[in-house]
Amino acid sequence: MEILKFPHPALLTPCKSVTVFGSELKTILDSMYKTMIEAKGIGLAANQVGLDLRMFTMILEGGTRLDVINPEICDSSKTINQFKEGCLSAPGEFVITGDRPSWVAVKYQDEFGLTHGNIFFGINAVAFFHELDHLDGKAFIQSKNIPKKKRREICRRWGLKP
Ligand code: CO
Repeated sequence: MEILKFPHPALLTPCKSVTVFGSELKTILDSMYKTMIEAKGIGLAANQVGLDLRMFTMILEGGTRLDVINPEICDSSKTINQFKEGCLSAPGEFVITGDRPSWVAVKYQDEFGLTHGNIFFGINAVAFFHELDHLDGKAFIQSKNIPKKKRREICRRWGLKP
């Protein structure tokens, strides 16, 4: 699969919910996972490879693969994490978005449509929010918490409105 870079329109458009479940979905996720590993990433959303599907794959701290379909945020902390984020759609760009909650309670579905609940902390929470932003058509480099001057400079580099 080819990874799209900003400002590709697929990265700026919210993805449609997954409504058809089954092993074909796992085949797509396997292919996304392989693409992510080859690119040395820790998360990849479907629209990053041009698929209009509300799902992503990621690696949790410790190395476990997690496939997430139709994610929803149930609750999140008021305290904020300060992690430097990178993105396979903006290679070489690393930035602290400054607005990622320290933990998040989520639910999502697996490839058979079964719902799962989980709580993620630290880097896992940051990665989850980063991928969820992709599915909502948002770019991490447009985060309002990045100082204005820096945001402008980074967004210009990737052809995005600051
Ligand atoms: Co990304």
